[in-house]
Amino acid sequence: MTAQIIDGNAIARAMRGDIAVEVKDWIAAGRRPPGLAVILVGDDPASEIYVKGKRRDCDEVGFHSIVQHLSAHVTQQDLEDRVKALNDDTSIDGILVQTPLPAHIDEDRIIDSIDPSKDVDGFHAYNIGLLALRRPALRSCTPKGVMLLLEHIGLEFKGLDAAILGASNHVGRPMGLELLLAGCTVTTAHKFTRDTASKVQLADIVVSAVGKPGLVPPEWIKPGAVVIDVGITRGENNKLYGDVQFDAVKEVAGWITPVPGGVGPMTRIALLQNTLQAARQHLGVA
Ligand code: GUN
Repeated sequence: MTAQIIDGNAIARAMRGDIAVEVKDWIAAGRRPPGLAVILVGDDPASEIYVKGKRRDCDEVGFHSIVQHLSAHVTQQDLEDRVKALNDDTSIDGILVQTPLPAHIDEDRIIDSIDPSKDVDGFHAYNIGLLALRRPALRSCTPKGVMLLLEHIGLEFKGLDAAILGASNHVGRPMGLELLLAGCTVTTAHKFTRDTASKVQLADIVVSAVGKPGLVPPEWIKPGAVVIDVGITRGENNKLYGDVQFDAVKEVAGWITPVPGGVGPMTRIALLQNTLQAARQHLGVA
């Protein structure tokens, strides 16, 4: 079997088109555009590229967007004050503080300071809690992007076995909550898991979010499974590597995402959708 390759770029392009149409109608009805504020701290080249991409997406769909680029030496208090000012800014629906943050900044306290109705990353304890309680509001972008991909291929989730590799706050944990909410039986493997292979081998859906190139070999994959690679590691020559041994695994899987061009573009779609959703709530649009 050779897997069908899930083209995240193409799916995202179509979805950006749908969002742009909605924003056009919205503006024609006399509303202000949805607004996204990004705070970027320091000079991490990868983060600068990600933020540029987010800005470009906003321009393409007609959102208002601003970027506050702060020195790597910004204080905790200054950063929290800036978030609070954006909480009070009525032209802004979504606030995203780009990670990683410098080591002297307490990231949890920064996320706690974001108004949950503007938490378009879906990182706030309130939004994660709502997802855990089966009342999703603003959903974490990468897991939501993965769900959009899985829905796009027409997957019937109920009763499927899912294995997630990695238990991070931003991806692995909310991914498990998403798949559980969709009716899957979920196993999350992490650094203390014994015999990860035997658990992944049972899975109809495999989501790897570890950041270890080549971690997932074809022997771990049940024939026909859907394999979603969230891992992204920048190697020498700036080349990007996923967690999955793509060329070999695609001979076993039923569906597979490439890196790059799989999950990444869908994370950005989820951010746009969340910003639109937040704007609907702030403006009282049904
Ligand atoms: N750094 C890399 N990806 C992301 C993201 O989706 N959100 C935030 N806040 N930081 C990131």
